[in-house]
Amino acid sequence: MVAGSPRTIRSWLFRRDGGTPMTEAIDAVNVWVESSDLAEIVVALQTDFLKALWRRLPAPIRTIVTWVFEPTALFRGLRTLFKLLPQRHQAGIYTWIQPTGFHHCLSYLANYRWTHRPEHFAPSILSLRDEYWQGDEQRKSELSDRFVHLVEAFVLRNGVKKTTSFSRHTGILSRILPALKLPGEPITVLDIPSSIGIASLANYDALSTRWPIGTYVLGDLCFEIVYDGDRECVFDGEGDLLQVRGWRGFFSVYRPAFSSGRWAFLSTLFLLPLHLRSWYTKRKYKFVANDAGTPILVVHPEVEKRVRDGIFHLRKTDVFSTVEGKYDLILSFNLLATRYFPQERIEIGIANLSNALREGGALVVGLDDSYRVFQKMSGQLVLVENVGEL
Ligand SMILES: C[S@@+](CC[C@H](N)C(=O)[O-])C[C@H]1O[C@@H](n2cnc3c(N)ncnc32)[C@H](O)[C@@H]1O
Repeated sequence: MVAGSPRTIRSWLFRRDGGTPMTEAIDAVNVWVESSDLAEIVVALQTDFLKALWRRLPAPIRTIVTWVFEPTALFRGLRTLFKLLPQRHQAGIYTWIQPTGFHHCLSYLANYRWTHRPEHFAPSILSLRDEYWQGDEQRKSELSDRFVHLVEAFVLRNGVKKTTSFSRHTGILSRILPALKLPGEPITVLDIPSSIGIASLANYDALSTRWPIGTYVLGDLCFEIVYDGDRECVFDGEGDLLQVRGWRGFFSVYRPAFSSGRWAFLSTLFLLPLHLRSWYTKRKYKFVANDAGTPILVVHPEVEKRVRDGIFHLRKTDVFSTVEGKYDLILSFNLLATRYFPQERIEIGIANLSNALREGGALVVGLDDSYRVFQKMSGQLVLVENVGEL
């Protein structure tokens, strides 16, 4: 179809003779394609040649490619195909897919558009916070929901999302606390990771009905981001690019990692277009150390208030490095789990938390409905309760 010298190919690619049915068709597809992720990728690549090539591709091919690269459309297509299968085949496929974690990948794609809406771009925290203190109870509750959605789109370099919610651990705490013995009073508590701190609000309240609380520390790898308003991009405290504003929302440089080897391979392969785009975006938006940008504290306004009142203390902490301080109780929910990290890494995290426990102190490591309770005895962690899989 495209035969001849490079010059002929070039003239074919770059010719701009409007009015033929072919160019009209291409223009029509262009308008449609402009709402796809692939169009964003192509624009991001900023290569005239690629753009021209893309414009010149026959409409049906562009349609197929667009469908393949548009995450939400792709997921819908796969789901439709899946639902056409007889029930027993659906169950068979699900049993096969479930251990690979591939369904997490599909659900990420299915929710991609919604998650990356402009109002979930991290710097929206600034306006949310202002509005929050001016709003009545109803408005505060709506804005709190927005915070919860916003952190759902917030993925750190290590592939961990800041996902959290109010009262997330109260069920587990109400089961554990009655039997729990702690060495000292008032107690010192480390709640790590705390994300934007909203789960810690209820944790604090639940603990304070049992013990006087001396110190309550919220630990997390990332409490502060830096917003470069000129380039509309967000970096973490180490200068790693996290998000870039786009014309229909924003792009997250990192995606949730569904850790174990098998999962990582499949999701990497499946999400390859997004990985390529991340690679390009990181090269384009480098952190400029001298151009400070706007630092933004990534915590909920109610948590910020408790910090101001001296009830909560924020401490940037990496659970895989030395954990500062000595605590009677350490709560660690939704981080040290095989969903995020391999077992060896989880054990390093648990050992670091153990070193930060006082003799007789307790460590609770959990997910939403499974948990382990350890007690430190003669310098060693002893498992005292184990419910479900982590
Ligand atoms: C899924 S959220 C869980 C938050 C909270 N514990 C909950 O259950 O709602 C995971 C949090 O872990 C934090 N995180 C990721 N890697 C970490 C690390 N190495 N050390 C400490 N915190 C980390 C992230 O910033 C994020 O806030």
